Amino acid sequence: MSILVIIPAAGSGTRIGGDIPKQYRTFGGRTILQRVVDRFLADDSVGRVIVAVADDWLARMQQELSGDRLQVVAGGETRQESVRRALLAIEGSEFDVVAVHDSVRPFFTDESFRAAVEAARVDGAALPAIPVTDTIHGVSNGTIAATLDRRDLVAAQTPQCFRPQLLREVLDRAAAEGIQGTDEAGLAARYGFTVRVVAGDPGNFKITRPEDLELAGARWS
Ligand code: C5P
Repeated sequence: MSILVIIPAAGSGTRIGGDIPKQYRTFGGRTILQRVVDRFLADDSVGRVIVAVADDWLARMQQELSGDRLQVVAGGETRQESVRRALLAIEGSEFDVVAVHDSVRPFFTDESFRAAVEAARVDGAALPAIPVTDTIHGVSNGTIAATLDRRDLVAAQTPQCFRPQLLREVLDRAAAEGIQGTDEAGLAARYGFTVRVVAGDPGNFKITRPEDLELAGARWS
């Protein structure tokens, strides 16, 4: 089996502040992005890793992230567009599964990656997710507009896995219709595809806030 991994890393990471995007923060001599890339490259079933970066990082990343199974391409205005451009960089059907993974989720487990890959082979699309423990309210003008039943909710994680043709179709359709989703699994479901939910891991958090950087630093020290 051969897996293509796409890592959209073209975000500016503005929520954390600072002058460089969070995926380029260094811990123990390696950036968060490099650590994510290395984890996938260590997996023999990964045939290629494509990283989509912002234009002003392209030349530098093409130099720093080089290797046999590694490719760096220019990302787009949105995460979705970055993923689409990465997918356009390959031809044909040499891969069985495409996995899309956030550049700032270095702590995914091998088990949930494996489970999502296997489920995508069977059902076409799959993602790791965890139960929601907080109550989630819809808010309008500063007041509660709706309270969702958390028994029906999960928090989406990555790697999200797809049959290549399915992901291509979903992203092309969304681009043509001007639809912007916040993840690819949600888009696939929107277009009527079955998207299997497999067990994620609470430790697989997305480095988003300054305290997440501290947590990551502690795990790597
Ligand atoms: O904004 P969010 O945290 O959802 O971003 C998730 C991932 O998408 C990050 O890895 C980020 O770098 C990437 N991204 C991208 N291109 C954009 C915006 C975000 O590749 N234009």
